[in-house]
Amino acid sequence: MQEIINKNRFSIDELIKLLKSGGDNKSLLFNKSAGIKEKYVGNIVYLRGLIEFSNICSKNCNYCGIRKENNKIERYNLSDNDIVKTAQFAYENNYGSIVLQSGELQSINFTKRITNLLKQIKLLTNNKLGITLSLGEQKKEVYEEWFNAGAHRYLLRIETSSEDLYKKIHPDDGMHLYKNRLNCLKYLQEIGYQTGTGVMIGLPFQTYEDLANDLIFMKDFDIDMVGMGSYIEHADTPFYKYKERLLSLQDRFELSLKMIAVLRIMMNDINIAASTALQAIDPTGREKAIKIGANVIMPNITPGKFRDNYKLYNYKPCTIDNASDSKHFIEEKISLTKNTIAFGEWGDPKHYFKRISKI
Ligand code: 5AD
Ligand code: SF4
Repeated sequence: MQEIINKNRFSIDELIKLLKSGGDNKSLLFNKSAGIKEKYVGNIVYLRGLIEFSNICSKNCNYCGIRKENNKIERYNLSDNDIVKTAQFAYENNYGSIVLQSGELQSINFTKRITNLLKQIKLLTNNKLGITLSLGEQKKEVYEEWFNAGAHRYLLRIETSSEDLYKKIHPDDGMHLYKNRLNCLKYLQEIGYQTGTGVMIGLPFQTYEDLANDLIFMKDFDIDMVGMGSYIEHADTPFYKYKERLLSLQDRFELSLKMIAVLRIMMNDINIAASTALQAIDPTGREKAIKIGANVIMPNITPGKFRDNYKLYNYKPCTIDNASDSKHFIEEKISLTKNTIAFGEWGDPKHYFKRISKI
């Protein structure tokens, strides 16, 4: 195992061994990834204040609790004023950057709304607040318009790099095409966004080989940022019927940590988020991820009354209690990991600057 861990390019078989490691081997892996993190990105954590401004979605992903056909949830849409006020809160509290996330909508009105919000937020924060968008698949012109209005990062998870598995986890209705997702990621890179992707770990039908290929996909795609977390079943989704065939939540959690650790070894200088899904399984999940390789946390700053309705999966944390994601609480928890929060910084991934210098 030591021999494998000392490499930074792995074969599929080696990746599978790493992902299956337990006991002392797992500790070796985590020590290695923690060391690499410290050396290349430092023991520093960047914050992105997450604003989940609407749970209205035009899509129907089989795994997701806010899919269009789930009529058991109440749909909400924050007013522009509330969004801008929340962004201002992030700025004043030195978060450094925010993420605007919502269900996926493609319309001229939606495009214009986001452009307008970006301009307002940029103006109000003297161009000093970094803005990441996580608004799904859009036309290239739309991505360009938002980039020109001030967004500089975009998150679009590939969910799985296996086209076969992608087909299984999405409905076959022409609206959920793997190729479109891939093209969108390419557009984002071409336009100049710091580009983030990620996968879910522990999906029904997913194999270790799929996960190993996911890691290789991220490396080959030269991705700048990654957010990946465990798949967590949601009762009001078509995929709930597979709940018996899943790994235990604990095993999905452990596997997610190992994915983060291996990715950190493969891609030293990218940003890796400690995802909320990890915190959903283990209240200290994000801190555990920070210790072994992640360097970004996305505290939920969505105004409290709306949070309960953005349930992508069961057990989603802090939907009622927003204290657990308050700045003070996060500061305290991060300090236990011997990392420091870089308040007020954008926290751009070094990888991005290297990538664009190659073009
Ligand atoms: N479990 C874990 N993650 C989920 N997402 C959606 N549904 C689930 C689920 N049931 C993730 C997807 C999506 C992101 C916004 O949330 O990866 O890209
Ligand atoms: Fe909509 Fe995203 Fe959920 Fe799919 S994963 S249903 S696009 S919010």
